Amino acid sequence: MLPPVVTTIAEVRAAVGAARAARQPISFVPTMGALHEGHAALVRAAKARTAVVVVSVFVNPTQFGPKEDFAKYPRTLDADRALCGDAGASLIFAPSVAEMYPENSFTSVEVGTLGDHLCGAARPGHFRGVCTVVLKLFNIVGPAVAHFGAKDFQQARIIGQMVRDLNVPVDVRVEPTVREPDGLALSSRNRSLSSTERAAAPAIYRALRAVRARALAGEVDAARLEGALHAELSAIPGARIDYARVVDAETLQPRARLDRPAVVAVAVFVGTTRLIDNIRLAD
Ligand code: PAF
Repeated sequence: MLPPVVTTIAEVRAAVGAARAARQPISFVPTMGALHEGHAALVRAAKARTAVVVVSVFVNPTQFGPKEDFAKYPRTLDADRALCGDAGASLIFAPSVAEMYPENSFTSVEVGTLGDHLCGAARPGHFRGVCTVVLKLFNIVGPAVAHFGAKDFQQARIIGQMVRDLNVPVDVRVEPTVREPDGLALSSRNRSLSSTERAAAPAIYRALRAVRARALAGEVDAARLEGALHAELSAIPGARIDYARVVDAETLQPRARLDRPAVVAVAVFVGTTRLIDNIRLAD
């Protein structure tokens, strides 16, 4: 069944207010639209928890840098609605930019050091925009649980920290990355890849797996692991590494040795499309 789409804060509050009055907890899946099977998995995970599932579809301008692809970001609301319906969503909140950011909006969330590394280093202000919109959406929708994908590892970590630090009463769940059969992590950006780039892109996950295999075989020196990772990624035709790091899974700081849970996180331009992925090393 196609879920209804509401566009104003008043409408979504009225809808979730009715659910809350009936003592029905709400699960929430925030998205920027251009939905794919990875988002469907988030909606299904949400539906497995609560009967009422709200999905937001909002391309958030405050998380895009001045030279990034906000205007070109795909907007596919009809297809998104069909996917949400198939996956069991109850309601879609698809506000306008003016609804979310009326004139004279000044306040934002300060992310702190977790936002200084990885994507945060390459995209200054990105996580301030992400956290600000997510906190606003949490305040509008009032969910008990919210679902995020593990592909956006730094985002999930930062949002988990935000709810802890700011006492936001939302249980943040991180769901496994959904991949194509050849290993490429699903992303709305994959549709921008040419056929040659699409053929090259699965090598990113192969490189991550190769590093994980080295770590499992006993390599604990992060610089050597990063060296091997750079070599593999540099060999991908048409690829340019933005970052490829072994970081502490908790602090996101670079690590010299694998003596705590770590994550290998990469951002790689394949042609002009920036793809991110990560793999957790053995705890
Ligand atoms: O992951 C995304 O799609 C976005 O960063 C999010 C969480 C919906 C905030 O705009």
